[in-house]
Amino acid sequence: MSDQQNSQQERTLFEMIGGETTVRRIVEAFYPLVQAHQLLGPLFPENIEPVMEKQYLFLTQFFGGPPLFSQQYGHPMMRARHMPFEITPQRADAWLGCMEQALTDIGIDPQLRELLLQRLQGPAYHFVNTDN
Ligand code: HEM
Repeated sequence: MSDQQNSQQERTLFEMIGGETTVRRIVEAFYPLVQAHQLLGPLFPENIEPVMEKQYLFLTQFFGGPPLFSQQYGHPMMRARHMPFEITPQRADAWLGCMEQALTDIGIDPQLRELLLQRLQGPAYHFVNTDN
């Protein structure tokens, strides 16, 4: 295999979706949907900007880009960071539903959209900490 083919195979999801610009667009499309969602909106502060910024840092890292979240905030410990909130299975579904809608809204390639959603599904259900 040539070096070029090899480096193609090793491209991260972050690179495949178009890097920083696309992660920003995802976050900007996602949070208005979250805020408007009846199950999710009440969990979030009115000033959503700081949450959007943290999510930008985190998703960049999560999709294989530079470890921006850890550089600023240390080990992600994302399940622990979600413990103050009642995360029910319905809320995990809703979160993933908003993400699917956001990815569709920004017009991302459908195959990449499915890959991203698959990656996010594990953590979303892992953060569930409340039955109902
Ligand atoms: C399963 C459903 C989920 C719910 C209901 C949920 C809800 C929340 C809430 C309420 C916050 C705190 C907002 C604040 O600062 O006041 C938060 C923070 C955050 N969430 Fe989620 N979340 C979910 C899943 C996820 C997933 C799947 C990811 C990424 C893979 C994620 C990444 C983050 C990040 C990076 C933060 C900021 C953490 C920090 O404060 O340092 N969340 N989430």
